[in-house]
This record gives sequence, structure tokens and C-alpha cells, in this order.
Amino acid sequence: MPINRREFVLSSAAAALAAANSQTAFGQAPTMMTPRSVKPVVISSSNGNRYKNGGTLTCVEKAFDLVTKGSDVLEALIEGVNIVELDPLDTSVGYGGLPNADGIVQLDSSVMHGPKKRAGAVASLEGVRTPSKVAWLVAEQTDHHLLVGKGAQDFARNMGFTIEDDLNTETSRARWLEWKRRTDPEHYLDPKKRDARGRQVMLEMVREGLLDENHLYGTINCDGVSPKGEICGVTTTSGLAWKIPGRVGDSPILGAGLYVDGAVGAAGSTGRGEANLFNLCSFLIVEEMRRGASPKDAGMTALKRIAAHTVEKRLLNARGRPNFGINFYVLNARGEHAGVSMYDATYASCDENGAQIVKTEALFEGKPGE
Ligand code: GLY
Repeated sequence: MPINRREFVLSSAAAALAAANSQTAFGQAPTMMTPRSVKPVVISSSNGNRYKNGGTLTCVEKAFDLVTKGSDVLEALIEGVNIVELDPLDTSVGYGGLPNADGIVQLDSSVMHGPKKRAGAVASLEGVRTPSKVAWLVAEQTDHHLLVGKGAQDFARNMGFTIEDDLNTETSRARWLEWKRRTDPEHYLDPKKRDARGRQVMLEMVREGLLDENHLYGTINCDGVSPKGEICGVTTTSGLAWKIPGRVGDSPILGAGLYVDGAVGAAGSTGRGEANLFNLCSFLIVEEMRRGASPKDAGMTALKRIAAHTVEKRLLNARGRPNFGINFYVLNARGEHAGVSMYDATYASCDENGAQIVKTEALFEGKPGE
């Protein structure tokens, strides 16, 4: 017998409720519902409210402006991070990012679109200043989620990007030459001694003011939610300074450097990618929020997991705590957000009241090296 529209809606709702209850019965927490209207907001690592690439707006300001004008949220976020990717002053992202051990800038990026349930990423991409745009094309134009190395570059060329020979700036090249001069060229870790010399040289360069501590693993993550509750995220980076060529960090790995579930929220990361890869923290954070945790509590759970899993001596400071920084930027579908970090740090946000930099919630006081 045919059913009318009202009966169909009611029976569909009953079926959905039954399905949700049966999931709960099997121990799975129910998915959070996306609210009907949300105060839009864009959050990012603090470099998202610092660099302007000669323009007037920072990343979070640009993205927020576009979101409130009705632009697709992910496209708005990508336009925002493009400012930082193109600005040579940020030596941790895109053009002018600190190069790998061979002096070559290799870039990683991922994007996730909550409502469309699409994701794309590129890793070890050379010659393109804006890897986030290429990551988005992987999501839009292919059946895949991750392209790497030459394949990623060929894909970018085929999509119309100009491939440049070298993305170093005078600054990034000079810093690489300095690092090369100071280290044993054979900078791989001795598997027996787990020599920490390479790391000590980096910290020396930080102490001497040659390197910004935040740019060793520097990255930008940017997440946003529209008035309709549509949530997206993007992460883009030049990765670890002086990395072994081909090293891929957390940024392009879904669930590590970025994770978005359109009905729950988004999480992204900056800082030591290896610690995040081992623990897949962005996925963990979103799943914690699905179970009802606040953005801050979900982020703290991830930091505690990392601290518990950091046992190698070379990665611990004198207090027996992780000797590296790592930060998470967490946004739920209601527009509530938090920045959390292993040690004191800041993050950026932009809403109807404008852009600001605020302190993160830190797991430990002090600095990583203390
Ligand atoms: N979080 C950036 C990286 O480790 O590559």
C-alpha cells in the first residue's frame, strides 16, 4: 500500500531511531547531530593570524570573510591558507618552507570536506607553492585520497599548475646551508646509539635565533564552520626542517594531521608529526567528541596519549616529559573550539568579533627543552 509523505517521514525517523538504538546496544556511541544554525568561526594555528603576504587580511580573516559571504567552507579555508603558503616569511609552509636534507622544499597537505565527505592529500610534492590546492583537486578530480612525490607533481602539472624548479627563498637556502655546515652530512640516526646530534644542532640554531622554534615542524592547520553547520579543514606544511628526503609527516595523513566528520567536528595539528602519526590523534579527537567530549577535553586526551607513548630517552627532557611541541586545533559542529598543546602555545580564531590570538590549554607548563 502506498504511504503518504508524512507517514514516510515518520517511519524513516522511527527507523533511524531504531538503528541508532541498536548501534548503542552494540556499544557504539551515537553520532552528534549537526545543529540547524551555528555562529560561524574559523580557527587555525597562530601563523594563520600573522602572515598577510603583502595583503590586508590574514588566513583566518580571509577565510571567515568568505564563509560569511556564503562561499564553500573548504574553498574559503584553502584561500586562507594560500596566503601563508605564498608568504616567504613563513618558513614552515609552502614557498620558502625550510627544505629537506638535500636542500629541496618538499610539501605535504591534506583537505577534508565535511558535508561532501571528500578528502584529498599530497605528500613530498616539489615545485608547487600551494599544495593545499593540489590536495583539493585530488579530492575533486580523482577516485584517490593521497598522491605522493613525482606522481603528485605530474598530477599538478596536468591540472594546469606551473612546476617551479626551486621553492627556496634566500632565507630558507641560507638556513639550510648553515645546518649543512654544522652537521655531519651523514645525519641519519645511528640505530645503536639513537644519536640525538641532529636535533641538538637544530636546538642550537633556535637558541642562536637563526631558526624559529615553531618552524622546525611548522605547519598551518585551519578549520571552519559555516552558519549552516558545514565543517571543513585543511593542513599544509613544508614538514620537518632538514628531513630525510621523502619523509612524510602527519599533515597529509587523514586521521593524523587532519580529520573532519561533518556531523561531529574537525581536528588538525602542528608540531612533531612523528608523535601524531604514531597515535593518529586527529581521528582520536573527533571520535572523543563523537562520544560527547568537549573540544578541549578531546584534545587533552590526545596529548596524554602522546605523552604516555613517548618513552625513548632521546625524546624526553630532564623532567622525563616529551621534549617536543605538538598542538591540536579542535572545532565541533556547534562552533565551539579549543587549541591544546603539549607546552604553552597560542592559536588563532576569527568570528563576528574579529580575529584574535589566544593561549592554548597546555598539558605541561614550561618549554619542551626544560
Ligand atoms: N607537523 C608537520 C610535520 O611534522 O611534518
